[in-house]
Amino acid sequence: MTELDIDFVRTQFPAFFQPLLQGQAFFENAGGSYTCGQVIDRLHRFYTERKVQPYGFFKASQDGGDEMDEARTRLAALMNVETDELSFGPSTSQNTYILAQAFADMLAPGDAIIVTDQDHEANTGVWRRLGDRGIEVREWHVDHELGQLSSSDLGKLLEGPIKLVCFPHCSNIVGQENPVGEIVAMAHAAGAVTCVDGVSMAPHGLPDIGALGTDIYLFSSYKTYGPHQGIMVVRRTLADRLPNQAHFFNAAARTKRLTPAGPDHAQIAAAAGMADYIDALYAHHFGENDDTAARARAVAGLQRAHEDKTLAPLLEFLRCRNDVRILGNNHIHTPTSRVPTVAICAARPAEAIARDLADHGIMVGAGDFYAVRTIGALGCDPKEGVLRLSFVHYTTDAEVVQLMKGLDATL
Ligand SMILES: Cc1ncc(COP(=O)(O)O)c(C=O)c1O
Repeated sequence: MTELDIDFVRTQFPAFFQPLLQGQAFFENAGGSYTCGQVIDRLHRFYTERKVQPYGFFKASQDGGDEMDEARTRLAALMNVETDELSFGPSTSQNTYILAQAFADMLAPGDAIIVTDQDHEANTGVWRRLGDRGIEVREWHVDHELGQLSSSDLGKLLEGPIKLVCFPHCSNIVGQENPVGEIVAMAHAAGAVTCVDGVSMAPHGLPDIGALGTDIYLFSSYKTYGPHQGIMVVRRTLADRLPNQAHFFNAAARTKRLTPAGPDHAQIAAAAGMADYIDALYAHHFGENDDTAARARAVAGLQRAHEDKTLAPLLEFLRCRNDVRILGNNHIHTPTSRVPTVAICAARPAEAIARDLADHGIMVGAGDFYAVRTIGALGCDPKEGVLRLSFVHYTTDAEVVQLMKGLDATL
């Protein structure tokens, strides 16, 4: 089986060549990833050559508009959806906010929705507020020990007038991939549509949204090697039913009706660099292939296999310590279930450990990561926070060793 060429991968990220970042091992990727060179180059080109109103009559303007279209077309194809099903917004939180307004306009009092306590607040708070408009909000709870969502619990909640099920592809705390296809099938059978937060999952391989079958899929490109945008896919059958949230004269434009803010031209154009990066990875490892979604799947497979291999020693190290609790399922580690987002509680406060780790050249995050409900459900105090060690496919075994040494010295 082809393995990820980590040296090639790292040449694609200028951050690894910056003097200030030498020797610094980056483990706060779930907060925001490094940006690939292709995106930075496009952003620079846009601001230097194309920073004019796009879709106009002169070349700089047309080039800018074409590049924005290119980003949408190529990313949609990589994720196996139609071009006009993909929209860019300022962030995932903004995208869910608009979606919730649209659902509020569409649902009627007495309708019900399901939310979880495994989500980042972005995919739960806005939906819970629909309760103020007479919508019944049902909560799909994680179990208190491992933080997992069970399908049988969902089955019990799906009785009656359920119109929407919101859940994460993967939690930003417990790092466990949920069986999206199975959950979507259950929701659809009950007559509901689904909204999946993929922010914690997409950095580990762009999803095949067509195959997942969900009606809505959201993720943040600034955590996925790209510019600071929220990427939202709403499948046509639902998008055309949701009431327009944009200017009235844009009601018929699928790519505008759910993103009322003026688009960030440069960042959208630069998002085409995410597709360049995936294609560069594919070409380097496998050569040519005209099937775009297949290229994305193959690259995702490479990413996940490398991450699995790199994650195993860290989980083993943490499991062997009796002063650490890994939040989530620390017993099962199968190639398709756990991403390298590992939140722990230790004997010392998370913030103090994070600060000490910085002295060891290790960049990690501490806090509640806006997953206050998940952390609370697991019996931890969100105010105390947790230490989160998160990495992606560009992380090396040596950096994980550096992390473990740092943890040994600071926990
Ligand atoms: C799982 C998850 N969902 C949603 C968000 C919100 O994303 P954004 O910052 O683009 O609003 C985050 C951000 O940390 C996240 O980790």
